[in-house]
Amino acid sequence: MKVQEAKYVMSNSDYEKCPEPTLPEYAFIGRSNVGKSSLINMLTGKKALAKTSQQPGKTQMINHFIIDDTWYLVDLPGYGYAKVSKVERDKWEKMIHDYLHYRENLICTFVLVDVRHSAMAVDLEFMAALGEAGIPFEIIFTKADKLKPGQVANQVEAYKRKMGEIWEELPEMYVTSAEKNEGREPVLAAIETYNQS
Ligand code: GTP
Ligand code: MG
Repeated sequence: MKVQEAKYVMSNSDYEKCPEPTLPEYAFIGRSNVGKSSLINMLTGKKALAKTSQQPGKTQMINHFIIDDTWYLVDLPGYGYAKVSKVERDKWEKMIHDYLHYRENLICTFVLVDVRHSAMAVDLEFMAALGEAGIPFEIIFTKADKLKPGQVANQVEAYKRKMGEIWEELPEMYVTSAEKNEGREPVLAAIETYNQS
């Protein structure tokens, strides 16, 4: 699928103030600094659409982007960032929780995982919670350019084994590099299929 036009719509801290839930929507979630905002920029082919930073904790709101006037991409704050106050962290967690649980037009959530790390409890627990709530999700490995292709394959295999201990059926998984502009098509194809169904 080709993205012709991607536009910033608005930022909210409350899911109820987000755009009318009339178009299909896809959200990106994961630990702070995993590359959520960078991935949105890669998928849309617009380098500065979503704000990125080397410092974790950059994205602090629910950010809506509209694609070709027909669907939304949503950039969310990260979880598991220790350097903000507990009050701030609780606020983000509630914002993310409420958005993911109550946003009516959310079709699929992409959980981003840094391909360099072995499966982390915080991510596995987050996905378990999504599963329990019946929120559909798929996994996107990020920063593949930081490893050799063989290492990437090993990491993905190890992740699948770990997930297999918990899940009967594994979610879809994609390998990406925002740095090298790789892995864009399979993710967009998945979204296209959802949009058509
Ligand atoms: P928060 O909004 O703080 O939760 O972070 P985020 O998940 O949105 O991460 P962001 O896209 O801001 O990227 C964090 C850092 O990782 C930036 O310095 C990016 O340039 C870098 N980064 C993101 N994706 C990639 C990638 O595929 N490869 C490499 N090498 N660096 C990446
Ligand atoms: Mg971000």
